[in-house]
Amino acid sequence: MKIVMLGAPGAGKGTQAKMIAEQYQIPHVSTGDIFRANIKNGTDLGKEAKSYMDKGELVPDELTVRILLDRVAQEDCKNGYVLDGFPRTIPQANVLDEELTKLGDKIDFAINVEVPDENIVKRMGGRRACVACGATYHIEHVPPKKEGICDKCGEALILRDDDKEETVKNRLNVYHEMTQPLIDFYNGKGVLKEVDGTVDPSVVFENIKKILG
Ligand code: AP5
Ligand code: MG
Repeated sequence: MKIVMLGAPGAGKGTQAKMIAEQYQIPHVSTGDIFRANIKNGTDLGKEAKSYMDKGELVPDELTVRILLDRVAQEDCKNGYVLDGFPRTIPQANVLDEELTKLGDKIDFAINVEVPDENIVKRMGGRRACVACGATYHIEHVPPKKEGICDKCGEALILRDDDKEETVKNRLNVYHEMTQPLIDFYNGKGVLKEVDGTVDPSVVFENIKKILG
């Protein structure tokens, strides 16, 4: 099963992708998480990605595509994966499509998590993220058991550098311009599914499970 998560920044792609990955025993592949892990480890890739991410801009397609294709070529992705934050531009989607076609394969579901912009800005300030394992919390909606500590791996939680209000607004603009066209792209391929992302995360997940079967 190969799944793409679509939706604005903060729509809950990561939250849902983690649950899908657990339920269906497939890897959760997030380009954002890969970049953040590289930033944390001070790699060259991390340094380059950070210069874009901090402004809320997209990391260039060429670099992002290379990272993603390397990741999905790994053994654990053989039986499927859930992509979170990739593709994010039409050129990225085309490359993925071409690579899958070469393998006689395709994306089975593109799930668009719908949340209006007004809700997003409010959500982001409360988000806390674990850079070690990729888990995501919210101080009100999804609090960790112990404040500031990841339930899953015990590492300290961070407020992401790109969750400042001004940066969030730019990320939303970039989303509408560059990423929203992917909704039509996957609709044209007959694999688009829409879910309401404004309800409780567990309810969003129930609705996704109905789609995936
Ligand atoms: P990335 O890490 O992918 O960020 P994003 O797309 O902006 O999405 P977020 O991770 O902010 O939101 P999410 O939808 O995963 O929501 P979450 O589940 O955390 O990318 C970061 C940057 O990396 C980009 O700006 C770009 O620079 C670069 N990048 C990454 N991929 C790239 C690519 N392919 N090409 C180019 N550049 C790329 O939820 C948000 C908050 O809401 C959390 O606190 C959560 O607990 C809470 N929440 C979740 N669901 C609900 C709910 N139903 N109700 C209430 N609260 C909820
Ligand atoms: Mg995310």
